[in-house]
Amino acid sequence: MKVIVVENYDEVSQEASQLVEEKVKGNGELVLGLATGSTPLGLYENLIDGHKTRNISYENVKTINLDEYLGLEKTHPASYNAFMYETLFKHVDVNLDQTYIPNGVPESAEEECARYEEVIDSIGPVGLQILGIGTNGHIGFNEPGTDPESLTHVVELNASTREDNARFFDSLDEVPTHAITMGIKSILKSEQIILMASGKSKADAIKTLLDSKENVNPDFPASYLWTHNDVTLIVDKDAYSQV
Ligand code: F6R
Repeated sequence: MKVIVVENYDEVSQEASQLVEEKVKGNGELVLGLATGSTPLGLYENLIDGHKTRNISYENVKTINLDEYLGLEKTHPASYNAFMYETLFKHVDVNLDQTYIPNGVPESAEEECARYEEVIDSIGPVGLQILGIGTNGHIGFNEPGTDPESLTHVVELNASTREDNARFFDSLDEVPTHAITMGIKSILKSEQIILMASGKSKADAIKTLLDSKENVNPDFPASYLWTHNDVTLIVDKDAYSQV
């Protein structure tokens, strides 16, 4: 794992956007794996800026997201489908038919998971996957205890994850209890992974991650990133402060 420590959130976003733009410029047909949440917002702003001011095109890029809440329609403002449209897709020239996010209201969640894993394999491999990290070490919505062999699956969200994400909803009660997420094995199929972390709230998770190299274990799902040969952690001083 390559570790890049920078001053602050803006620099985390800057480092990540440079890596993404280099890939997009070098390979117009990139499959780009995307995350939601607060961490990648600055990255997405920079990518929009690069598109508008430096003509970087996403016309031939396919995107695939990590996860979606079960029970939320695409039109729900807190759905990850809506999040991606509002924060990135509507501002760049990506072809919406080439953006993939699980369906949060499938007839059968099990069938949707199998379909999504087939999508990953048919358009993949993901050339570059962006990840954030949960305070409990989750990647995607792979909560502690997740099998490292897991493919896309339904997960029951931990209480801490629902509390962390309640800020996107009117109340904690409205946060869905379940989600569909790429599994750990699905994520590790990516050719290159960038893990972004910023702020004091992530300091314990980053310390645990960096201490877990010799102790990769399901209690801290992000530890499985040590089994991949091309991971770059971009972290600011606050998130690195416990290391
Ligand atoms: C988002 C995702 C999650 C987040 C993580 C950190 O698609 O899969 O793993 O990356 O919960 O969230 P933020 O960035 O909001 O702290």
